[in-house]
Amino acid sequence: MLQGISMNQELSVQSGWTEKLDQLIAQHKAMAGALLPLLHAIQDEFSYIPESVYEKIAKGLSLSVAEVHGVVTFYHHFKTRKPGRHVLQICRAESCQAMGSEALEAHAKQCLNVDYHQTTADQSINLEPVYCLGNCALSPAVMLDDEVYGRVTAADLDGLIRDAKKAEAQG
Ligand code: FES
Repeated sequence: MLQGISMNQELSVQSGWTEKLDQLIAQHKAMAGALLPLLHAIQDEFSYIPESVYEKIAKGLSLSVAEVHGVVTFYHHFKTRKPGRHVLQICRAESCQAMGSEALEAHAKQCLNVDYHQTTADQSINLEPVYCLGNCALSPAVMLDDEVYGRVTAADLDGLIRDAKKAEAQG
């Protein structure tokens, strides 16, 4: 089950969407193959694409809701839930796997209580897989927001998560 934002929060966020969403649909509807560029524009604007807007998108582009749903869920890039304030990426590519990234990802999933592409219940952290951070010499590698870390242990990961949450509490 996806963790995170409550239905009330989601609805209140979307109440401010209507005008901008209409504008984006109007800007894209005449394009050939408009769905993907429109989805990118919506996510760039709002940072996610909730299911409740699929119908409006479908109507605007003369598609079925199922087609919109199919494309949004096919690409992991598209978020259907409001993303967390931090993004933690764990490298799943070969060098990192050889150096224990699978155990690291299991640890991250357990302590954050999320799977990949999900956000913690407190909306703090998104957990994402990544395929090589260009830091193979220091595998296993993770990236928290814009910072890459190498030779990361489970204890290091706990520390990164703790520091991110502490910085938020102080900020
Ligand atoms: S394989 Fe993980 S950083 Fe390259």
